[in-house]
Amino acid sequence: MENNQKMKEMEEELSFYKRLVSTLPFSFTYSDPEFDRKLCKNDNGQVYVKRSTPNRREFKITSANRIPFEEIEVLLNEILDVVPHHIVFINSKGIVTLCNEQAAIDLHVDRESVIGKHLRELLQIPDKQIKMLETLQTGKPIVNQEILDKNYGIINTRLIKNSEGKIERVVGVFRFLNHIKEAEKQTLASRIAAGIAHEIRNPLTTVRGYLQLLEGRVEKETAEVFLSLLIPEIDRANKIITDFLRISKPGVERREVLEVKDFFIDYLGHFLNSDALLNNVNITFNISDDSANCFFIGDREELFQVFSNLYQNSMQAKKSSLMEITISTELIGSNIFIQFIDNGIGIAPNLIQHVFDPFFTTKDEGTGLGLSVSKKIIENYHGTMNVKSSPLGTHFLIYLPVHKGEIPL
Ligand SMILES: Nc1ncnc2c1ncn2[C@@H]1O[C@H](COP(=O)(O)OP(=O)(O)O)[C@@H](O)[C@H]1O
Ligand SMILES: [Mg+2]
Repeated sequence: MENNQKMKEMEEELSFYKRLVSTLPFSFTYSDPEFDRKLCKNDNGQVYVKRSTPNRREFKITSANRIPFEEIEVLLNEILDVVPHHIVFINSKGIVTLCNEQAAIDLHVDRESVIGKHLRELLQIPDKQIKMLETLQTGKPIVNQEILDKNYGIINTRLIKNSEGKIERVVGVFRFLNHIKEAEKQTLASRIAAGIAHEIRNPLTTVRGYLQLLEGRVEKETAEVFLSLLIPEIDRANKIITDFLRISKPGVERREVLEVKDFFIDYLGHFLNSDALLNNVNITFNISDDSANCFFIGDREELFQVFSNLYQNSMQAKKSSLMEITISTELIGSNIFIQFIDNGIGIAPNLIQHVFDPFFTTKDEGTGLGLSVSKKIIENYHGTMNVKSSPLGTHFLIYLPVHKGEIPL
């Protein structure tokens, strides 16, 4: 009884495999030395098993040329969807027959709608710029060519011909590198801007120097204008430029090991506490034990700038009463989580989304650069910076990757 059941199961399994094999869209032979058998599927779709003669494993598709390309493409599509480059097939008329997922995503198309259409509708550029069409015309593959049209990247094209040598498909593989171009453009833009800013600052310094010099030699009224209007305006312009140059600086430059406790209590605390005393501000530091001895590697001045900006803003948001500022750190995973909380006037809900924008300010004397610079600095250290606020005060949340354990020498 049990044996019968087993036999039945085996037979079912066998017919299952047979059915699978018979649905494969091509004929083939598969020989396996272990079983000394050869499994074949002939051109008429019949499946049979023979004794294999050679003593080796072999899988040979015997009629790949006769399988309609469309069927192969269905199988390929699944595989090509996991490739991170753009892969597109066209037929000899330039019609798209396959488009992998990455291409559809980056080119913002619905792939079902581009299959069956001409390649130019997918790429949206003139035919003569399309490298796959060039390959179709010249019959020559393109190897690792850099492309810069609407998109930027490296293209490769290959030809698939049938047994008569006629082109069946052109395959295009495109490494999409737009993000690199974007980053390059931004770096270039900030370099130019930084260059200009620098060049403006020099003549400003000269003008300021002369105004100061002349102030003692001109009439009182004119001197008054120099002192109350011109020189402060130049100082303001200078401050904007200094802050701006800080933003446009692309990465972390000076590096030193900064222990959390040292940095916050001894360095930052030292500076802030003396100012706080004079201005009726009460600063509390809460450095959790697990974060105290973590360290980051960075530029002390630059990180100081972040907290000094936050402190200045809090001071400027002070209500008439005593101001409370709490600075706390704790370790969360491999980040140090820093909170900077004040009980000032808060930020209105409709403005809060703009506070990190460069030049956004609600102050007559503000430059609107403090927070954008601070966020940029934190991001240069691969951290994040966010803000929450209510009429009871403002709360900055900063995550900064840190190291644990032994300080490197
Ligand atoms: N702690 C805070 N309390 C209330 N408002 C704040 C606080 N920090 C920032 N802001 C708001 O965000 C704006 C942008 O700040 P910032 O970039 O430092 O520029 P600035 O201080 O020159 O105005 C400020 O003008 C202010 O409206
Ligand atoms: Mg500020």
